[in-house]
Amino acid sequence: MKTVYFDHAATTPVDRRVLDAMLPYFSEQYGNPSELHRLGREARAAVEAARAQVAAVLGAGEKEIVFTAGGTESDNLALFGGLARSQPGHLIVSAIEHPAVMEAARALNRQGWAVDFIPVDGDGIVDVDAYEQAFRDDTRLASVMFANNVVGSVQPVAALARIAHEKGALFHTDAVQAVGSLPVDVGELGVDLLSLSGHKLYGPKGIGALYVKRGTRLQPILHGGGHERRLRSGTENVPGIVGLGVAMTTAAAQLPEVRPRLERLRDKLAAGVAERIPEVTSLGHPTQRLPGNVAFSVRYVEGESMLLRLDAHGFMVSSGSACASGSLEPSHVVLALGLRAEDAHGSMRISLGRENTEEEVDAFLEAFPPIVDKLRQMSPLYVKG
Ligand SMILES: Cc1ncc(COP(=O)(O)O)c(C=O)c1O
Repeated sequence: MKTVYFDHAATTPVDRRVLDAMLPYFSEQYGNPSELHRLGREARAAVEAARAQVAAVLGAGEKEIVFTAGGTESDNLALFGGLARSQPGHLIVSAIEHPAVMEAARALNRQGWAVDFIPVDGDGIVDVDAYEQAFRDDTRLASVMFANNVVGSVQPVAALARIAHEKGALFHTDAVQAVGSLPVDVGELGVDLLSLSGHKLYGPKGIGALYVKRGTRLQPILHGGGHERRLRSGTENVPGIVGLGVAMTTAAAQLPEVRPRLERLRDKLAAGVAERIPEVTSLGHPTQRLPGNVAFSVRYVEGESMLLRLDAHGFMVSSGSACASGSLEPSHVVLALGLRAEDAHGSMRISLGRENTEEEVDAFLEAFPPIVDKLRQMSPLYVKG
């Protein structure tokens, strides 16, 4: 049975070029970048070269890039580090953030911060009026993700950052799903803090970065040897950092070719599902969405049942509840779009990547309708129309 991987929003395979660049740093080039001998200096040079690669892709300065252990750490550093100097005040996040931001905001709330969760419209786009009105005199930071990991909707980040600045607050965006899939330029966006993660862009797991705009006051959340300009202590993950640099450069170089191709496959897949299966609701914005994201909800069936049956046919997809470690709760993102809980249970996410082909999309469109049909026959709620 052929395996078709349609879950690139969860993680991506490591690109061969990325792996090749990383390998020497596990064995021959194993120096600690803080040491002054040759191996140390070579490791330092590799880390700084990767920093320059990451900075160049984002349109940032090299000193504005802090390497972290991934998207979750970057998000936590942005929120906790960005707020550490202030007395507890007010914080704004969107209602559809990844748990890395959502739970960080809830933890801050337990420490005395007031938090507003800004609603989104039916397409998963933040309600800009509600956002603007939520700011208070003591609002210190707003965090709205660039692109949503479940339904793919892309937020008006530049406008949201501008509003935050007018109100005197810092602006952070979790761009973990966007970097590598869409052009991301920190200057154009005007953000203060931006998170990214290696394993979503054909780099390794356990490496990420936080862009910290020059002049932004940030406190570390890890204390130790003062690495990364005192912002992230801990011996640098040199192979991971090297891999992230190459992954960023490779993704940026391929973007003009990959993006339109994925958008075409995405639209074909979405239209094919809508045509072949009755009572399907597509999720997320029709056009303002990630190039590879298709999300929908199928009435009268469970997302997990579809996922497991598709898996048995070789197709790897995700239900809307993913990213929360196999949770069977309906996704807070899908609920925030206004779906009823019973419909949210039938949600599914397909996230296409570079290596997917039209034949794979065609094969999916053939395999999926009979699976839904069978599951619906078993559903007590389903009455065939
Ligand atoms: C939007 C978003 N933010 C943050 C993360 C967490 O990133 P990492 O897995 O690198 O910790 C993810 C990954 O699931 C994500 O999709």
